[in-house]
Amino acid sequence: MSPTLQLEATAFTQAQLIHADAPQIALAGRSNVGKSSLVNALAGRKKLAKVSATPGKTRSVNYYRLEPSNAYIVDLPGYGYAKCSQKERLIWAALLEYYLRETRGLRALAVLLDARLPPQKSDQELIHFASTIRMPIIPVLTKTDKCSKRELDTCKQAWSAFVDPALTIITSSEKRIGIEELWGKFLQILDMSEMSSPHQSIDLE
Ligand code: GTP
Ligand code: MG
Repeated sequence: MSPTLQLEATAFTQAQLIHADAPQIALAGRSNVGKSSLVNALAGRKKLAKVSATPGKTRSVNYYRLEPSNAYIVDLPGYGYAKCSQKERLIWAALLEYYLRETRGLRALAVLLDARLPPQKSDQELIHFASTIRMPIIPVLTKTDKCSKRELDTCKQAWSAFVDPALTIITSSEKRIGIEELWGKFLQILDMSEMSSPHQSIDLE
C-alpha cells in the first residue's frame, strides 16, 4: 500500500496550528527554493500545493495528511524573502519558530537548499536553530536540473561544511529526480516502512 497526500489544514497563526502530537516531517527553506513544488512532486500531482515564480507564495503552515495514516508532511512558509515588509518577515519567523519548538510530533526537518546558490546565511541560521532544539535534519538540494554536474559538485562541497553530505538528497521536482529516495527516507522516519511510495499519477486539473 502507498499513501496519498491530501491538504487537510492551513494555519496562518500560532493559534491555528494543529496536530502537535501527530507524526510529521516539515519542509523548510527560503522563499522560492521549491518547497511547494516538492510537495506536488511527492504527491505526483501538479496543483496540490500552490507554486509561484514570485517568492512568498506560501504564507501559511500547510498540513498534508499521508492517507490512510495520521502522519503529515507540512509545507512551511518560506523565509529570507527580502521584498516583503519587516513586519511580515517577523510574523513568519515567529510562526516558524513556534511551530518548530512546539510540534512534539515533528520527527525531522527537511531543509531545502537551492543547488544553484552558495550557502546562505538564513539557511545556516535555520540549520543552527534546528541543532539547538536537537531536531534531525534531512538536507535536500533542489532544482538540480538547472545546474551542471560541475556546479552541483561545487554546491555539495560548499554545503558539506554545514550538513552531512552522506544524508543530503539531490532532487529536482521538475525532472522527478530523488523523489523516490525522499519518499523512502520519509516513510522510514515516520515508521511507515511497510508502505511504498505512491506511483506517479499526474492530475491535470
Ligand atoms: P514560497 O512558497 O514562496 O516559500 O516558495 P516555495 O519554496 O514553495 O517555491 P515554489 O515551489 O513555489 O517554487 C518556486 C519557483 O521555482 C517556481 O517557479 C517553480 O516552478 C520553480 N521550481 C521549483 N522546483 C523546481 C525544480 O525542481 N526545477 C526547476 N527548474 N524549477 C523549480
Ligand atoms: Mg510555497
